[in-house]
Amino acid sequence: QPVHRIAVIPGDGIGKEVMPEALRVLQAVQQRFSVQLDLTPIAWASCDHFAAHGDMMPPDWKAQLQDQHALLFGAVGWPATVPDNVSLWGSLLKFRREFDQYINLRPVRLFEGVPCPLAGRKPGDIDYFIVRENTEGEYTKLGGIMFEGTEREVVIQESVFSRHGSDRVLKYAFELANSRPRKHLTVATKSNGIAISMPWWDGRADAMHAHYPAVAVDKQHIDILSARFVLQPGRFDVVVASNLFGDILSDLGPATTGTIGLAPSANLNPERTFPSLFEPVHGSAPDIYGQNIANPVAMIWSAALMLQFLGEQAAHDAILRAIEATLTGPRSEVTRDLGGSASTTVMGQAIAARVAAGV
Ligand code: NAI
Ligand code: MG
Repeated sequence: QPVHRIAVIPGDGIGKEVMPEALRVLQAVQQRFSVQLDLTPIAWASCDHFAAHGDMMPPDWKAQLQDQHALLFGAVGWPATVPDNVSLWGSLLKFRREFDQYINLRPVRLFEGVPCPLAGRKPGDIDYFIVRENTEGEYTKLGGIMFEGTEREVVIQESVFSRHGSDRVLKYAFELANSRPRKHLTVATKSNGIAISMPWWDGRADAMHAHYPAVAVDKQHIDILSARFVLQPGRFDVVVASNLFGDILSDLGPATTGTIGLAPSANLNPERTFPSLFEPVHGSAPDIYGQNIANPVAMIWSAALMLQFLGEQAAHDAILRAIEATLTGPRSEVTRDLGGSASTTVMGQAIAARVAAGV
């Protein structure tokens, strides 16, 4: 039985309120299943640490974390005291880059008991994964400005698509699609407008498809694909996209399934050379911090994704069932963003109790 080494990093704001609920659920998991976790609490990667030390993380942060199997992360950011670019680039973005977490994975699912912003959709109609490239593409610092401040001012910003970087994210997406009953992969493209990189990206997708003949592939231009997230969400099973397109899709998709308090994400290094990172999509929510009203589900679901990545599928499934049962349960056990009256703690306790009881 492997012992999973996990660094627990609450960060800032409601990260510090939802993380204890994820730990409560992990405690219940360890009691019910033969899952063994070795948890290391980390107080840095936070604006509190910045206030005390003038930096988001200690200089040896990488050495401290690289033997961990996973990082369970809350949220970072406290714009009242630390500019967001300093807090984000000083912590989370360092993890993603230096630990080569090149897959950003976001499940998008409409749960029973959660009002859907799209008219007429019921649970089961929206159930797909977004696979975003997380290290290159449109997000680079290559380029520059010439003749700055003059009438001749020219700005160039380069995109970078490498064969290495594209093939590995496409491979991950094909593997994921191949493992799902529908075996359907949507490839986000814009080969009609972005005339060099996107036709090339489509070609890499075709080459990878040859290795996964059972997967049905649908290439869609990003503009109509976005519209279909809203109009025909049932079309999607797994969606793979470049860094920029994936960034936009992975906010739009979860937004169609209700509150941001539910959406989880994983930043994966599939080869496991480095630890992968699991975090809610939401941030530190300074506007509600301190009231114990934040929805803990995004954090708890992120912990479930972590267990799945670590090979603990049964534990993952148990947490998802407990979340589902709680969302359809009494309103006294769900938070305000879901129309309920529960505190963060009460909702976390309700989910943990269902994990322990094996609903
Ligand atoms: P946010 O996600 O923190 O909050 C947006 C809105 O959603 C707020 O009204 C908030 O109250 C609400 N909300 C968020 N999570 C919720 C939850 N679990 N339950 C109920 N309501 C919830 O985004 P915002 O306000 O743009 O950013 C606040 C700080 O968080 C900034 O410093 C930002 O840089 C940081 N941030 C960090 C992220 C991360 O750590 N990955 C991601 C997004 C933002
Ligand atoms: Mg985004």
